[in-house]
Amino acid sequence: MSSTVNKIGVLTSGGDAPGMNAAIRAVVRQSIYKGKKVMGIRRGYAGLLEEEMYEMDSHDVSDIIQKGGTILQTARCLEFKEHEVNERAAKICAKHGIDGLVVIGGDGSFRGATELAKNGLNTIGVPGTIDLDIACTEYTIGFDTAVNTAIQAIDKIRDTSTSHERCSIVEVMGRGAGYIALWCGIANGAEDVLLPERYDYDEQKLVDHIIEGRKKGKQHHIIINAEGIGHSTSLAKRIEAATGIETRATILGYMQRGGSPTAKDRVYASTMGARAVDLLCEGKTNRVVGYRHGQIVDFDIIEALGMEKRIDPYFVETSLSLNSR
Ligand code: ADP
Ligand code: F6P
Repeated sequence: MSSTVNKIGVLTSGGDAPGMNAAIRAVVRQSIYKGKKVMGIRRGYAGLLEEEMYEMDSHDVSDIIQKGGTILQTARCLEFKEHEVNERAAKICAKHGIDGLVVIGGDGSFRGATELAKNGLNTIGVPGTIDLDIACTEYTIGFDTAVNTAIQAIDKIRDTSTSHERCSIVEVMGRGAGYIALWCGIANGAEDVLLPERYDYDEQKLVDHIIEGRKKGKQHHIIINAEGIGHSTSLAKRIEAATGIETRATILGYMQRGGSPTAKDRVYASTMGARAVDLLCEGKTNRVVGYRHGQIVDFDIIEALGMEKRIDPYFVETSLSLNSR
């Protein structure tokens, strides 16, 4: 493995997240600042295998820090799990003179990055996912924007829910993780939050809670349901049948992945993207950048992938204690 890099590639992989453009911009500008060449690779690992890449200059990333999505586009590429394919990808990078690669994505994308590192390419991961489900870091790019988008939508659902005295189930994204749901639960003051990490499938408890709230004069009942539990529409039907209260389900879906990134997402994306380049310039490889205890940090990718992330029990307790009156 080379101890220093000359040409840095950058790609986005997995689900897009607001702030990915700010991270791309940071990688490009920091690389140029450090005197390196930089190549943008389109469509994640799929584009890398198709050699869809171009040299980027500072101007290519002008006017993107405020934009959602990813200008490099993203993809899921199942064949990247195959050893021969990783080997081919590393050879393609070598052919184009790319000796360092910044991968902006989630855990799956980091697994791809570590395979490339095994094949001699210097790789650094930057956590980009709305799901906040990466254990080594307290922050992932896109989470803040997604939660802000979701809470605004839920506020609107609450207005109509109150007018019609309905119960509303709102399903938010997060794959197997309940972070978006939990944050929305607290931020929206939802009556119930269903988290994959904690769900006990006790629907009678939910039903009792709704009836109890109605008796106390509550005009709505908002249940935030995490995607990892899902089945919001059928749950709504069962709740309506059991409570006699009109119940509607709304699945927020992909709107949570779009939109202009918040200040927080822009700032973390910028600092993490720059740190990824710094690490490559210091001769580091197979690392993932993170944010912990107020600092930008980095970990060995294998070590990071082995870490376990636990939802904060105090957040869960608070979502219950503040919202169930
Ligand atoms: P995320 O990066 O957001 O977790 P995915 O899990 O869909 O998203 O992974 C994104 C891409 O990373 C996959 O489409 C694949 O190309 C690559 N990838 C995922 N898992 C592996 C693996 N075990 N080995 C190599 N590449 C992987
Ligand atoms: O990882 C981000 C995410 O939006 C998850 O919350 C969701 O489960 C998944 O991606 C959806 O992926 P796709 O775009 O393939 O439907």
